[in-house]
Amino acid sequence: MIVREASAADARGYIMLIKGILAEQPPVDTPYAPGEFNPVTSTIRDLIIEYNASPNGLFLVAEADGVVGALSCRGGSLAADAHTTDLGVYVATDYRDQGVGSTLLRHAVAWAQASSVVERVELEVFAGNARAIHVYEKFGFEREGVKQRKYYRGGVPIDMVMMALLLDKPGKSQAR
Ligand SMILES: CC(C)(COP(=O)(O)OP(=O)(O)OC[C@H]1O[C@@H](n2cnc3c(N)ncnc32)[C@H](O)[C@@H]1OP(=O)(O)O)[C@@H](O)C(=O)NCCC(=O)NCCS
Repeated sequence: MIVREASAADARGYIMLIKGILAEQPPVDTPYAPGEFNPVTSTIRDLIIEYNASPNGLFLVAEADGVVGALSCRGGSLAADAHTTDLGVYVATDYRDQGVGSTLLRHAVAWAQASSVVERVELEVFAGNARAIHVYEKFGFEREGVKQRKYYRGGVPIDMVMMALLLDKPGKSQAR
């Protein structure tokens, strides 16, 4: 398994990964219902190019027999939140609990630390997703609060935990 920056050619593999994850039973902890993720390949291709070309964006894939994991960071688009990036990570069911998610996180945190722009990596996670929360905390993410009843799935209310990793970049705030 290798982790690398995604290229435009990974768009189809990424879509297949996410569609496969959304089709799982029982469902994984994501607000998307299976029919709610139907991007055309060119949309994902453009996102991959846009994220990896931007100083506050990142699109990684884990590759084994195809794309088996992915991590994206969508950077803020305003001057006020250009230092913030929004992280999402998914690993195919057969590859979970084998270090793939941690390897993706390790690359993303190293990227954010090396960035001259990114000071805050944020995410939201289902409050019951103990594995994901464990992985995020392992990499220094802290809980910031809970969005109560943010989603309903199968009639069940879901609370979302807000988490963030703050990176000190001495001298940057004053320059802003
Ligand atoms: C969450 C996810 C990205 C983690 O990736 P992964 O490759 O499975 O994670 P890793 O193998 O790197 O690490 C798993 C860690 O969680 C631990 N873990 C597993 N189940 C756990 C549980 N129920 N509670 C707490 N920790 C748990 C493992 O022991 C391991 O800990 P360690 O690194 O300290 O040894 C992946 O499981 C996934 O895609 N899940 C479905 C989609 C999802 O939930 N995405 C996150 C949305 S916010």
